[in-house]
Amino acid sequence: MAEPALRVERDGPIGWMIFDNPARRNAINEVMWRALPKAMAGFDADPDVRCIVLRGAGDVAFAAGADISEFEKRRASPNAAGEHDNIIDAAQLALEDSAKPVLAMIHGYCLGGGLEIALACDLRYAGASSSFAIPAARLGIGYGVHGTNRLVASVGHAAAREIMLTGRRYSADEALAMGLVNRVLPDAELEGYVRKIASELAANAPLSMAASKVIINSVIEARGDFSKGEALIVRCAKSEDHVEGRRAFMEKRAPKFKGK
Ligand code: COA
Repeated sequence: MAEPALRVERDGPIGWMIFDNPARRNAINEVMWRALPKAMAGFDADPDVRCIVLRGAGDVAFAAGADISEFEKRRASPNAAGEHDNIIDAAQLALEDSAKPVLAMIHGYCLGGGLEIALACDLRYAGASSSFAIPAARLGIGYGVHGTNRLVASVGHAAAREIMLTGRRYSADEALAMGLVNRVLPDAELEGYVRKIASELAANAPLSMAASKVIINSVIEARGDFSKGEALIVRCAKSEDHVEGRRAFMEKRAPKFKGK
């Protein structure tokens, strides 16, 4: 079986990034997280690339989040967990800070870090059978400040609280109603629709779109003191529940959390 990878392709003015790890529902491993900013830098530097689209390989999943099978190794200490979180933040920033429009084409599962990445894109188009969740509370993870800001800016605090506190899975129609995605298409029509929008964006004025991105980013930029929240993320990373959450997932059982 091929190694999990972030595949990069070009189709005229459209750059494609593909999360390719089908055995794990396109979960994003560390190699893929690290590859994303590099791939974006390549697209950013190429004036002939005018729009970027992210997708998962196949049509079962956009991405089922970070690769939990790596957590035992990659999140073994609070420092390691902090480093892992920084790599995920760097991937989001590479998408947000790009001057070019970035689309997420979402087939199937869009979970955890996969949804975080989709929310860092400018536009999200989803197939009717896609589903969405941020199951941090089922894994004992403190979800990052940056991703939380983006979530609240997208759906408001009321829906963000339900998404984060319950960790439950939402259908494509529920995601649309909450503002998590821009549009839901029949599964078979999704790719054609996204290709059409991407071509339209590729023909739009690059400087105008770049200005809009920067202005929208600065309007939704979180301000304030996040030190309390960051300390609580570290507390989660140090907790027995963090270990229990990832072990329970790998052992295919329900976690038993103690709040310690
Ligand atoms: N990390 C690592 N492995 C993952 C994964 C992830 N995020 N998501 C799925 N997998 C693996 C499963 O462990 C399983 O591996 P196995 O074949 O070796 O047993 C394989 O992918 C298929 O997953 P499975 O759960 O059997 O498929 P499913 O179709 O019943 O369910 C999901 C798919 C995505 C709903 C389910 O796998 C899931 O909930 N994944 C975790 C999502 C999550 O918590 N993401 C947040 C991480 S930050």
